[in-house]
Amino acid sequence: MSNYHIKHLEEYFQVYRKSVQNPEAFWEEIAEEHFVWRSKWDRVLSWDFTKPEIKWFEGAELNITENCLDRHLPTKRNTTAIIFEPNDPKEEAQHITYGQLHESVCRMANVLKDNGIKKGDRVCVYLPMIPELAYTVLACARVGAIHSVVFAGFSSNALATRINDCDCKMVITSDGSYRGNKTIDLKGIVDVALEDCPGVEKVLVAQRTGGKVKMKKNRDLWLKPLLDNAYADSDAERMKAEDPLFVLYTSGSTGKPKGMVHTCGGYMVYTAYTFKNIFQYRDGDVYWCTADIGWITGHSYIIYGPLANGATTVMFEGVPSYPDYGRFWEVVEKHKVNQFYTAPTAIRALAKENLEHVEKYDLSSLKVLGSVGEPINEEAWHWYNNNIGRGKSPIVDTWWQTETGGIMISPIPYVTPTTPTYATLPFIGIQPALMDEEGHEIMGIQVDGRLCIKFPWPSIARTIWGDHDRYRDTYFTAYKNKYFTGDGALRDEVGYYRITGRVDDVIIVSGHNLGTAPIEDAINEHPAVAESAIVGFPHDIKGNALYGFVILKEIGEARVKDNLRKEINQQITEHIGPIAKLDKIQFVSGLPKTRSGKIMRRILRKIASKDTENLGDISTLLNPEVVKEVMDNAL
Ligand code: WT7
Repeated sequence: MSNYHIKHLEEYFQVYRKSVQNPEAFWEEIAEEHFVWRSKWDRVLSWDFTKPEIKWFEGAELNITENCLDRHLPTKRNTTAIIFEPNDPKEEAQHITYGQLHESVCRMANVLKDNGIKKGDRVCVYLPMIPELAYTVLACARVGAIHSVVFAGFSSNALATRINDCDCKMVITSDGSYRGNKTIDLKGIVDVALEDCPGVEKVLVAQRTGGKVKMKKNRDLWLKPLLDNAYADSDAERMKAEDPLFVLYTSGSTGKPKGMVHTCGGYMVYTAYTFKNIFQYRDGDVYWCTADIGWITGHSYIIYGPLANGATTVMFEGVPSYPDYGRFWEVVEKHKVNQFYTAPTAIRALAKENLEHVEKYDLSSLKVLGSVGEPINEEAWHWYNNNIGRGKSPIVDTWWQTETGGIMISPIPYVTPTTPTYATLPFIGIQPALMDEEGHEIMGIQVDGRLCIKFPWPSIARTIWGDHDRYRDTYFTAYKNKYFTGDGALRDEVGYYRITGRVDDVIIVSGHNLGTAPIEDAINEHPAVAESAIVGFPHDIKGNALYGFVILKEIGEARVKDNLRKEINQQITEHIGPIAKLDKIQFVSGLPKTRSGKIMRRILRKIASKDTENLGDISTLLNPEVVKEVMDNAL
């Protein structure tokens, strides 16, 4: 029996038991047998959730890129590592072999070093989904620099905040990006951001669109000539297992994004192990995750997890709707994709279109369908299962978070029987707990509560960059000695978990994690706005959409209000990005508040969702009269 590749349900239960009865021995064996280390650990795990401090494989040394690249060269030099599928289907796809990828990463590593980047420096990556993005991320890892990838849909403001938060010395970007029939001026966005980022010394610019850009003297350099002239080999830096590998920002309950810090050793072991099992990847398969590398899904399951397994991973630059709604399925047919991993919001959007877009293509290569980012509703699940999987490809509904680094609760396809809307069973090594509001663990089956994890796993984020107190307060104080996820979940009669959604001020819109506080901060900066509150409400395609309740300083006319709605969304686009725009904006004279001055979001959520029959306990309200007004004028 191989603990690395689970093939039967019995095996899952056996290995799971082993992984929780003796986690150290279990992970030690996985780490030892399936990865290359420069030196071995002194201790597998030390942890204390009260500090909190978590260390895996302490004392070990490695470089994750040796595991993702060098060690495959003897057997896979000519095997495709990355298939780059461009935005425009008329442009040819690129098949980048392990040999070529190794060479490009080494060249890029030399460019980084030549431009002053040393181990431990932070490098901001603001690139579209082009091969240079993969080269850059891996090159940072190779020289020991900490990459901070910022999704290239974020605004200059959001980019500047993230660059400054972790003091990036360098930004790597491109002239522009293609998304469907749009071209976006990325370099222009970087230029605006850098007006507020005094710490950035160098900007490297990849060429993609050929758009006109301004190059600032002594700061900006074109990447291509540097790569062409760089030496094609580069020794990987010796990294400690607990050295940071990257920072990745996620929204929280205050305006400031949280820079989650992931470290080299544990992250590598866990993402590789989950990838192998949850996608049942076998040599020769072609795997495609449609996420952007700007999110954790792309880090763990486009780059590190697949490459650590020597897999072939597709990198798609485009969008599901361009040139038409058949694009995903065209790519599946073209590259004979075996494992396909996407988000429920994409499935819902495609399910609304004519089935001809699906039926035109041969999808017989598919073996596993993945879902991630938000709960998948029953209708979307069945559409995916019937029309894409043709009833033959199991759906893996994978629950996890930026903070967890890898998939936590998920079926193993062909092993775990699936049930629509259920993420099913904890993955190997994961010990979930459901908690009540008083802080007690709810035992047994057919119960629901707040989802916590009781024991560390190798890829848990170790801290928030520059703010360890916030890390402790956000994840480890609500429930003693447990990691709190922020999600609610239920456990059914067979022990399967179903994630019911966020129980905090985070709203998942189209699979993107958005905090209400940063959006409210952005709106409140508008000169006409006195106060605002954002809540989510159910939306057919996005899962949730945003509803804003806004108090104006002066009550204006309807015409003025329409303009204000536009301006408010403009404000949000500038501060955060278009993904955080509001679907509905209702102007109100007051917000329901408790006597201590806290906005009662529970009531606003009910109003926004048109679920006002039972508002629950409103006896603690300071101003019950506004509830009626807000309800009467709801949109
Ligand atoms: C939040 C984390 C992990 C990659 C993408 C999102 C929600 C994620 C599922 C799922 C129900 C899910 C949770 C979680 N979520 N996957 N399969 N079923 N909800 O990463 O941006 O850090 O968001 O996404 O609410 O807490 P993220």
